[in-house]
Amino acid sequence: MKYPDIAFETMFAWVNRPRIMYSPGLRSEVGFEMGQLGGTKAVIFTDKGLVSAGIAEMVAEKVRGSDLALAGIFDSIIQDARIDLINEGAAFYRKCGADCMIAVGGGSVMDTAKAVNIMIGGGHEDFQPLADQAGLWDDAKALPPHIAFPTTAGTGCEVTNAMVVLDMNAHAKLSVTHPYCNCDVAMLDPELTVKLPAKITAFTGMDALTHAIEGITSTGAEPISDALGLHAIRLIYKYLPIAVRDPEDIAARGHMLIASTMAGMCFVNTMTGGVHATAHALGALYGIPHGLANAIMLPIVMDYNVDDVPERYMMIADAMGIDVSGKKPAEAAKMAVEAIVHLKKEVGLADTLKDFKVPKDPEKLKPLIDLAAADGQVGYNPHYLEEEDILKLYLKAI
Ligand SMILES: [Fe+2]
Repeated sequence: MKYPDIAFETMFAWVNRPRIMYSPGLRSEVGFEMGQLGGTKAVIFTDKGLVSAGIAEMVAEKVRGSDLALAGIFDSIIQDARIDLINEGAAFYRKCGADCMIAVGGGSVMDTAKAVNIMIGGGHEDFQPLADQAGLWDDAKALPPHIAFPTTAGTGCEVTNAMVVLDMNAHAKLSVTHPYCNCDVAMLDPELTVKLPAKITAFTGMDALTHAIEGITSTGAEPISDALGLHAIRLIYKYLPIAVRDPEDIAARGHMLIASTMAGMCFVNTMTGGVHATAHALGALYGIPHGLANAIMLPIVMDYNVDDVPERYMMIADAMGIDVSGKKPAEAAKMAVEAIVHLKKEVGLADTLKDFKVPKDPEKLKPLIDLAAADGQVGYNPHYLEEEDILKLYLKAI
């Protein structure tokens, strides 16, 4: 396919901060890398599932075998980065006398660690007022040393300078940004991902795919992110079904981790869109895992956007290996939507929200629609989404 004529914003800035390292077994370098950053006593942030699966220990044993002291393991993190647990995590870090952190986990763990580091770096006691500010850019300073091992592929949280936190009082997911909150070194070790169950592999892989697709089609899209997002799509479309089918396939797991990081680098610069806006609301009000909510909404929102960015969807179709030669952009764009539906079937994911008791009654859907309409990502969707558009999208998913 020849590169189509594609317009983009005439001015943009492109940011990527962390050092990114990749290798199966890379965790053995954690002590050295933290030493390079000046850290001497680390807290590992993780969750109980990763502790019981032995994944946290795969990193902890490498810390113990190095010059880096292990101050403690904070494993209380559950689904979503909850503000109360962020506060607990900061208190734990201080009590241990730590001077650096290692996140071992998926998005909830990595986002909790980011928020804790902001509290430690800024001397804060409570994350709630910071979450309420959303953008923490004024007088922001570099934070204590921070290494992340993503154990899903994934959220891309290892490279994003934002975190999504769950405000239990407001029943809302808040997006908070800070220029230095992401880790200093993202260590991609696919051996940490082989025990991930097929279902979670599929959810998180669809999240990464959504980051790439929305990153490429957002109103902030630009050529650098296009390059990252399109290659992420190539890798995910090829390797996600393999990783779901054969969890121990290190090549597939490795490609998925790299793709997830690339998709993170893509969308953190361009933002996402209607899929993430509607998925965040579904997560906040119905507890639907983020990746699954994205997977359900992705083809529906893409279909809604087809006429707004057909050339961009044509590039996405091409990246998924669809032969678009001789096709009109709108025709190729529809093929991209169909390919997503096919991929979801292949990895065993639901098409609708029917298992989650989301009401069909528009009146009862109002809180969900209000939340999605207020989400920071909604404004980046290529088709401007009014509340009635969001209602239509949800009704197609129920
Ligand atoms: Fe996401």
